[in-house]
Amino acid sequence: MKEKQHEGLLEEKRLFFPPEGFCSKAVIQNPEIHELGQNRTKFWDEQGKRLDWFKPWDTVLEWNHPFAKWYVGGKLNAAYNCLDRHLEGARRNKAALIFEGELGDRRVLTYQDLYREVAQFANVLKSYGVVKGDRVTIYMPLIPETVIAMLACARIGAVHCVVFGGFSAEALKDRIHDSRSTIVVTADGSYRRGNSIPLKANVDKALPVTCINNCVETIIVVKRTGQPVDMQDERDVWYHEVMKNVSSVCPAEPMDANDMLFILYTSGTTGKPKGVVHSVGGYMVGVSTTHEWVFDLKEEDVYWCTADVGWITGHSYLVYGPLTNGSTVVMYEGAPDYPEKDRYWEIIEKYRVTILYTAPTAIRTFMKWGESYPRGRDLSSLRLLGSVGEPINPEAWMWYYKYIGGERCPIVDTWWQTETGMIMMAPVPGITPLKPGSCTIPFPGVHIEIVDPEGNLVPKGEGGYLVVREPWPAMLKTVYGDDKRYEDTYWSQFGGAYSTGDEAKWDEDGYFWVIGRVDDVINVSGHRIGTAEVEGALVDHPSVAEAACVGKTHEVKGQAVFAFVSLKEGIVIRDELIDELKAHVVLKIGSLARPDDIFLTAELPKTRSGKIMRRLLKDIADGREMGDTSTLADVAVINFLKKNIDAQK
Ligand code: WTA
Repeated sequence: MKEKQHEGLLEEKRLFFPPEGFCSKAVIQNPEIHELGQNRTKFWDEQGKRLDWFKPWDTVLEWNHPFAKWYVGGKLNAAYNCLDRHLEGARRNKAALIFEGELGDRRVLTYQDLYREVAQFANVLKSYGVVKGDRVTIYMPLIPETVIAMLACARIGAVHCVVFGGFSAEALKDRIHDSRSTIVVTADGSYRRGNSIPLKANVDKALPVTCINNCVETIIVVKRTGQPVDMQDERDVWYHEVMKNVSSVCPAEPMDANDMLFILYTSGTTGKPKGVVHSVGGYMVGVSTTHEWVFDLKEEDVYWCTADVGWITGHSYLVYGPLTNGSTVVMYEGAPDYPEKDRYWEIIEKYRVTILYTAPTAIRTFMKWGESYPRGRDLSSLRLLGSVGEPINPEAWMWYYKYIGGERCPIVDTWWQTETGMIMMAPVPGITPLKPGSCTIPFPGVHIEIVDPEGNLVPKGEGGYLVVREPWPAMLKTVYGDDKRYEDTYWSQFGGAYSTGDEAKWDEDGYFWVIGRVDDVINVSGHRIGTAEVEGALVDHPSVAEAACVGKTHEVKGQAVFAFVSLKEGIVIRDELIDELKAHVVLKIGSLARPDDIFLTAELPKTRSGKIMRRLLKDIADGREMGDTSTLADVAVINFLKKNIDAQK
């Protein structure tokens, strides 16, 4: 079906050109920019100059496969680039963050305000002993203090590890321990659809006093919801108390371009999430260039990225890219349907948002709710729309174009990953014609190919594995504490190219059409979930013997988790067991990983050598004809599953 779906896509021949008047005002108008990008080191050398450096670099790239060093010898500071350098001129009193809380509260921080708070919090971190290179875990709602904490770390050279507030205490614990953080910054709670998520209580669960490996000495708690929390005398302090009377003078630490800026955990093919490491120089050049060019950024834009800072999109295109570029960023804490289903459109109307960057899963949800919600609001301020996180189907693209963009806003479909740090494929909107469902072509200075299993380029019109052939500035530097895993996961296949884990096709015009993951990662609403992590959570339940999870095609979420579970000997199937197992996954990982379906079975289909055949399980979950079953040890097992699951539909 994937195949079929995709054949449909390649028949998608509609071309959309930028609207009248857009090109002549666009940031990038030079049609040769992609050609110029082919001289990659020259191109990125040139782009490096967009940042402020304490010391210029000597060599733009040292490439010792698979380890890259960009802007070698250069010294800079990410927070300085996001804040200090804007304070001299007109940007000083420009809104940096416009924050809208779920309950309708609002806070606007100018560049000067943000600078002051960041410097103060940086001094707070220092007073708790944080020094350059130390890791700080940030487990927060989407509120200004989260951005302040990130930039405060960057200012003093500490490494932030932001953990999405939707992760459970257990998932948080693993990330705190893996990063060996000494400080956790959190909040009492986080608003979500009128309820609140107990963040501090989760931190307490993650860090019981008796916990071995525990290096956390201090927990700084922002008061957000006002819900009761337990504060431990020796360890826990309130943000608003420790920020009192703190100096706002804190010089930015000159960092080596290749020093670590942050770690962000993401799912891979094993049960243990990977700590993706990004460093200061290359990352900042990459996000600044792509943010300006792909979003056609102008000084007066009001830019809204709906992603949470717990994900890479939040890091690169809510914090570092836009703030380095001196833009006004809208930040919304809550759900799109709280209190009404037009909350996003209300925000656009209220703040006269000009650029909206969101995800296909959100667009499909809005489609389901119907166009009367956007129609009821004035969206005429919008001039550009962005999409990220998963393939956008042409229907959703057209709906977005018509009902949100009023047929006047180009859509930039941006393909990239936690590991790539920056947008890798997307239109440059003043010069690249659009095709609904395609992320178009690689960004200038980025070399992407589609190859066969041996790493040979496939001809246009065909598909294969998506790889990046040459290093790019915002590339991950390693997997935290595990260079070998970095090398094995990303660089050992396909003739030494970087393996993205995605499958794609390219058409006769050289446009790319990303199909999805080819590894054991499921993309649920644009969030990466490792099947091995969910299976690990299920097997952790005392009743479960074995589990196999696959991604089932889902109309709104793109994919949903479908789990097949066999129970231990003697365990009697009870009705409540399925709910109990779902709750167990939520406990171990978070609600984002909750399986939509769990099917209990006596046995899982295996090959003669004992490997679970997930490919067939996926066929069953999607309700299509099964592929080749000849390597199965016992065909009866899969036939039983198919019969029963089809019967349930
Ligand atoms: C998928 C999110 C198609 C892809 C920035 C990738 C996309 C994974 C797109 C990375 C897109 C992201 N079109 N697929 N425009 N953007 N993906 O690390 O499978 O959370 O490998 O980064 O999302 O997810 P991650």
